[in-house]
Amino acid sequence: MTDLNLPNPGPRPPGEKEELLRIWQTPTGWRLPTAVNNTVIGLFYIGAAFVFFLLAGVLALIMRTQLAVPDNDLVSQDFYNQLFTMHGTTMMFLFAVPAMEALGVMLLPQMLAARDLPFPRLSAFAIWAYVIGGTVFFSIIFYDLAPKGGWFMYPPLTLMEFSPGDNADFWLLGIGFIEISAIAGAIEIIVGTLRTRPPGMSLDKLPIFGWAMLIFAGMIVVAFPAVILATMLLEIERALYLKPRSRVCSSSDFCVRANSAMLLHR
Ligand code: HEM
Repeated sequence: MTDLNLPNPGPRPPGEKEELLRIWQTPTGWRLPTAVNNTVIGLFYIGAAFVFFLLAGVLALIMRTQLAVPDNDLVSQDFYNQLFTMHGTTMMFLFAVPAMEALGVMLLPQMLAARDLPFPRLSAFAIWAYVIGGTVFFSIIFYDLAPKGGWFMYPPLTLMEFSPGDNADFWLLGIGFIEISAIAGAIEIIVGTLRTRPPGMSLDKLPIFGWAMLIFAGMIVVAFPAVILATMLLEIERALYLKPRSRVCSSSDFCVRANSAMLLHR
């Protein structure tokens, strides 16, 4: 270690290299899920995103089969609505966002010449919160408990008045896990890109992939807390059986419902 050009030229503690190599070693066998190394986490992450992509693809296949011929009764109207809501939600929240984060976690350290991301345990938290939360979330379709209002869940369609039952509540509570996981991954990517660049790699020399990841993660950190707030407001609105207030119209014929959850969610 002493022959390396380290920022601190002082002598290294005895046995440091062996100790670091022991800590950095990838666990094997049943202990593999405890790995925090970004390459292993990145592979798990992208594998899980691909599994959800396949699951959402199966939902799409059922939809297309239903639509293949007129007057088909393969699935009921009610279940069809559940299918497209879960297909859209899974594709967007359990495939598109995590797959991008997975690429960032897996490739960024190599591109930045860093040994790992700055908070390896945060990446591990992000993947496992996503896998567990996503599995529980996706399974609601098997219990006829998926919502029917579309992946965007716009009120007033998703208020208790128009979406009775527990279906939308399961969606609203489950999506929180996935959003928190996405924010954790995004923080890791932002700090990693900004703080683990090699000497001489100023931001204008950052690979274009690094820039794409930085902007993507920045958008998640800005947008997802608002989505969490909106899902919480919508859940409160449903739990308290609040109804949309009367219509508020401006001088033109543009009218909006003055409904907090609806406006925030949009
Ligand atoms: C070959 C692959 C795919 C097929 C066959 C497919 C098929 C469908 C079908 C049939 C619908 C429902 C239309 C309706 O009845 O309203 C739908 C909706 C949707 N799909 Fe896909 N899809 C595919 C891939 C994807 C991918 C890769 C994404 C995103 C990453 C995606 C995102 C969505 C979204 C957001 C909706 C709207 C859901 C909603 O209205 O709640 N799809 N898709």
